[in-house]
Amino acid sequence: MKLLIVNGPNLNMLGMREPAIYGHATYEDLKNLVKTTCKTHQIEYHIFQSNHEGALVDVIQAAYDVYDGIIINPAAYTHTSIAILDALKAVGLPAVEVHLSNIHERETFRQRSYAGMACQHTIMGKGIEGYQEAILYLKDELAMMID
Ligand code: DQA
Repeated sequence: MKLLIVNGPNLNMLGMREPAIYGHATYEDLKNLVKTTCKTHQIEYHIFQSNHEGALVDVIQAAYDVYDGIIINPAAYTHTSIAILDALKAVGLPAVEVHLSNIHERETFRQRSYAGMACQHTIMGKGIEGYQEAILYLKDELAMMID
C-alpha cells in the first residue's frame, strides 16, 4: 500500500505559525508522526509540501498509477483552488482531506473546501494526529476495496 501525503502553503512553518490555532508541533514532528505510523503499519509513503499551487497539482497528477491513496491538506488553497479539486478528480484515487484546525469553527471564508469535494472523508481540528487518523482510515478503506 502506497500513500501520497500532500501539504499546502505555510504548513512548513508549523510550530511557530499561529500556535494558538495550529499547535506547537513542527513540520518535522508531523513528518516523524507520519513516518512512525506508516512504519508500524507497513505502508509505503511519500510526503510532500509546497507553497505553490502548480507544484501541488503536479504531484497529485503524478500520483496516478503510482499511489493507492492521497491524504491532502491543501492549507489556504483548500478554499480557493479548483485546480487542486480538478487534479484530485482527474487521478480518481481515494483521498482524505486533513486540517489541523477545525475550519468549520473559523472565518466564513474557510467554510468552503473545494478539495474536500473530491475527498471521501475529512478530518479536522485534531492537530497533527489528524494525519495519523487519515492514514489508518485509508488503510482500512483500501483493505476493504481489495477484499
Ligand atoms: C488549514 C486551514 C486553512 O484554512 C489554512 O489556510 C491553513 C491550514 C489547517 O490545517 O487547519 O493553512 O488547512
